[in-house]
Amino acid sequence: MDLQLHNRVVVVTGGSSGVGRALVKDLLSAGARVATCARDVDRLRASTASLIESDAGDVADRLLATECDVRDADAVSSFIDATVDRFGAIDGLVNNAGQSLMKRFDETEDDEWLAEFELKFSGVLNPLKAARSHLGASDAGAVVNVNAVLARQPEPRLAATSAARAGLLNLTKTLSIDLAPEGIRVNSVLLGLIDTGQWRRRYEQRADDDHRTWEEWSGDLAADRGITLGRLGVATEVSFIAAMLVSPKASYVTGTSIDVAGGVGRYV
Ligand SMILES: NC(=O)c1ccc[n+]([C@@H]2O[C@H](COP(=O)([O-])OP(=O)(O)OC[C@H]3O[C@@H](n4cnc5c(N)ncnc54)[C@H](OP(=O)(O)O)[C@@H]3O)[C@@H](O)[C@H]2O)c1
Repeated sequence: MDLQLHNRVVVVTGGSSGVGRALVKDLLSAGARVATCARDVDRLRASTASLIESDAGDVADRLLATECDVRDADAVSSFIDATVDRFGAIDGLVNNAGQSLMKRFDETEDDEWLAEFELKFSGVLNPLKAARSHLGASDAGAVVNVNAVLARQPEPRLAATSAARAGLLNLTKTLSIDLAPEGIRVNSVLLGLIDTGQWRRRYEQRADDDHRTWEEWSGDLAADRGITLGRLGVATEVSFIAAMLVSPKASYVTGTSIDVAGGVGRYV
């Protein structure tokens, strides 16, 4: 199926790794022009270079990668300006950049609560405010917020992240209502446990006497969390759904969320 993304301009924050990188790749494959950002500029450049090298076509002309921390409103504004200077428009925005804080309520310091809320909210609000007029000018403006099942199903080992995720899901609904008159759809993808940098880092930080392989470690994790499909997801399983939601073909979908979580959500 043609997602009608050819020549569309899509901004993906956090495109140097995991879900964001997979989405940048999928969007480029669909013929879109893509702008992405991350903080670690060396990793971003390496990721961009490998995407360009693996493609025989015109990907270099359709990809903009810029150093930018989504918490910094001025930097985000410059990133969005650079996107419009380069591509002339913005049709889609995928707010993907972020990470989680693996701490229980009693372990979470005051400044960590604030930092977690700042990342989750400014990581959406800064790009949206900067891109809003361009999304409204598109005939198919769409925002996708990459969120987590934690928004509906709190995990005590991720206390602050769960609370921040719930707030972001709530905000996404409000945005879908407020931006509808401007022709902008706003939806969420709710991730379960996806095999990306986040979980690989936790695996590397496991106890010295834990000699399990990644497959054993992640299999035990899936069993512990009760994932129906019995495994962690992979980034392309998320990027496909995000690309679908940002596509003009999803023109009657707004204010909703799709779980990409292997059935870990117990709610109906
Ligand atoms: N993997 C999971 O199981 C899972 C579950 C639920 C939700 N999520 C969410 O899904 C999104 C993607 O995560 P992932 O698993 O693909 O993680 P990842 O592999 O660690 O990639 C995260 C990306 O975001 C960028 N990033 C992080 N903080 C940023 C900031 N402040 N400003 C700009 N870029 C930033 C990172 O680059 P730099 O570090 O260089 O900035 C990287 O490109 C995140 O929001 C994450 O919280 C993931």
